[in-house]
Amino acid sequence: MARQLNSRIEGLYRLNPAERRQRLADAMHPYVFDASRVAGGVLGEDRADKMIENVVGTFELPFGIATNFTINGHDYLVPMVVEEPSIVAGASYAARMARASGGFTACHDEPLMIGQVQLIGVPDVQAARTAILASQLELLERANAQSMSMVNRGGGARAVEVHQFDESPMGPMLVVHIIVDCRDAMGANAVNSMCEAIAPLLEAASGGRAMLRILSNLTDRRTATARTRISPDALTRDGIDGHEVIERILWAHAFAVVDPYRATTHNKGIMNGIDPVIVATGNDWRAVEAGAHAWAARTGRYLSMSNWSRDSAGYLCGELTLPLAVGIVGGATRVHPAARAALDILGVTSAGELAEVCVCAGLASNLAAMRALATEGIQRGHMSLHARQIALAAGAEGDEVAVIAQQMIDRAHIKPAAAEQLLAALRGTLTEA
Ligand code: MEV
Repeated sequence: MARQLNSRIEGLYRLNPAERRQRLADAMHPYVFDASRVAGGVLGEDRADKMIENVVGTFELPFGIATNFTINGHDYLVPMVVEEPSIVAGASYAARMARASGGFTACHDEPLMIGQVQLIGVPDVQAARTAILASQLELLERANAQSMSMVNRGGGARAVEVHQFDESPMGPMLVVHIIVDCRDAMGANAVNSMCEAIAPLLEAASGGRAMLRILSNLTDRRTATARTRISPDALTRDGIDGHEVIERILWAHAFAVVDPYRATTHNKGIMNGIDPVIVATGNDWRAVEAGAHAWAARTGRYLSMSNWSRDSAGYLCGELTLPLAVGIVGGATRVHPAARAALDILGVTSAGELAEVCVCAGLASNLAAMRALATEGIQRGHMSLHARQIALAAGAEGDEVAVIAQQMIDRAHIKPAAAEQLLAALRGTLTEA
């Protein structure tokens, strides 16, 4: 049964963490939002010790929830794990603007990954190509024998391709691609095992020597796309008319289209929305980052990942397509209890649906950043959250944090030394009182 969820939780930001957990538990099934599942320390040293090498501890980051997301007509509360202030607020704010005109629509490709086997010293390239393609069935069978669980879930190796590089700093090479349907897994382990398993067959067929056998993180057959349409009314703010805001946002986008220096920062703002969801769900954010930036440079020039335009009704229209290799089975997604909780909070039932949520969060973050940059500037929103961090770093606790942060904002002086002075003064006052 599809769950009925309203992601429009008003004023969540005004509550304290315990109250927020209660609101979320009210909004979802009690098991889905069991506060203990997202509490600090749930990973535990024993589990951590089995995840990586030389473990000496674990590292915590804030686990927040972006609200207001409607995607393909369903509401989602989006878990985000990130250290940077304004990201959760920005994504929630943009999702609310989108919500007013139906939210986001999203779609995704089949979960096809590419594994690569590099062959060197091939004596006759044409004969090798013919022999490799002629042995395609045997190659696929050998590959699939490595991951019967993937095959049983309806996935597996689908095709083999041969790519030729006549020149490289070391000489010519053939590169064989094996295309693998990974279903709900990210698939790195399965694809790497397949590459290693078929390498001897490729050596025999080509007369060459297999060197690297590894997946490609440019997962350009496994993309997800988000679209949204925002009304001028939703963009009106601080006395700036929504049509004017749209005009300014289009200039901001144009900047990222022509200038790689700007495109890099613009795209960082997109990844601000995506990486926190990737981290929260225990997925490989380095893989997603590598693929996204390679995709942004696929024309030979590094460009804005997103596209923004104005339609005939004067609405702002945004679109973002990115390679998004994420999984909901295997790896840290299942090992880390908070990642499992994040997947339950999202309620996604496939890796493709998770990719759709990620790409929508990316488009939302991009919109939030462009709107702020094109109007009041990024610092106003950033500064109040930044001030809280500075206050915390200076040793403020509990209610002191908000008081010190506000005092620094009022004085327009948000610096560690100022926080320390204000804290000393506050504590002095409180002791005397
Ligand atoms: C900061 O984390 C992200 C931005 O720089 C993105 C942008 O410039 O579009 C605000």
